[in-house]
Amino acid sequence: MNNRRKLIAGNWKMNKTSADAVGLAQEIVAAVGKQNEVDVVVCPPFTAVEAVGRVLEGSEVRLGGQNMHHEASGAFTGEVSAPMLRAIFASYVILGHSERRTLFGETDEIVNRKVAAALRNQLRPIFCVGETLAEREAGSTLKVVQTQVERGLEGVSREQATSVVIAYEPVWAIGTGKVATTAQAQEVHAFIRGLLVKLFGEPVAQRIRILYGGSMKPANAPELLAQSDIDGGLIGGASLESRSFVELVNAALAAK
Ligand code: PGA
Repeated sequence: MNNRRKLIAGNWKMNKTSADAVGLAQEIVAAVGKQNEVDVVVCPPFTAVEAVGRVLEGSEVRLGGQNMHHEASGAFTGEVSAPMLRAIFASYVILGHSERRTLFGETDEIVNRKVAAALRNQLRPIFCVGETLAEREAGSTLKVVQTQVERGLEGVSREQATSVVIAYEPVWAIGTGKVATTAQAQEVHAFIRGLLVKLFGEPVAQRIRILYGGSMKPANAPELLAQSDIDGGLIGGASLESRSFVELVNAALAAK
């Protein structure tokens, strides 16, 4: 057993109009908005963040962005910044998601600047790492994950590190229905924990949450969440409907 509070985060990706997002947020608040034994976070698309934030007011559900630029302001058409997210009461931001890395060219260096900017602005990064299918088949999973973790967290202090949430998301499991086996996931989570011990020392490493992401669903969540180094989930598909998302929160409550 450990003292880490489980965290279930919904990554709504490019889904839901503002009105639809408000409806989903209302259902989530009604079902799990009062409990505070598991941390619950929803990350709507930017056009819905502020409206969803209003729905979450007074509840225990927290608000997150799906991405941000590392600069505070300036000539960066199409981007939003950490202070802008803070101003509408976001407390988390997903950074370095594999879709950002592969479709939008985000490098470890860019992700590292974003992690630093989030921490400077009191936003908790949900910092994503994970290998592709080709990398897994080549036997380089741990090496790839190590590089992403070390580069992404470069310059992060011990004090800041406790605010970081890491999401291990094998790219081949995202949105494919192919979930990693519990043994595959736990192996990488324990490896990441070991890296965190080297970077920040044992007490800090024991406080950092490591989420699993990639086709997590009510059916496979209990087994994944029972693993000693799996501290929650970053949920895509199953977060778009309140029923499955709430079931995942309940699975985390049962596993705590
Ligand atoms: P999925 O997405 O649950 O649909 O696989 C997870 C993610 O991309 O964060």
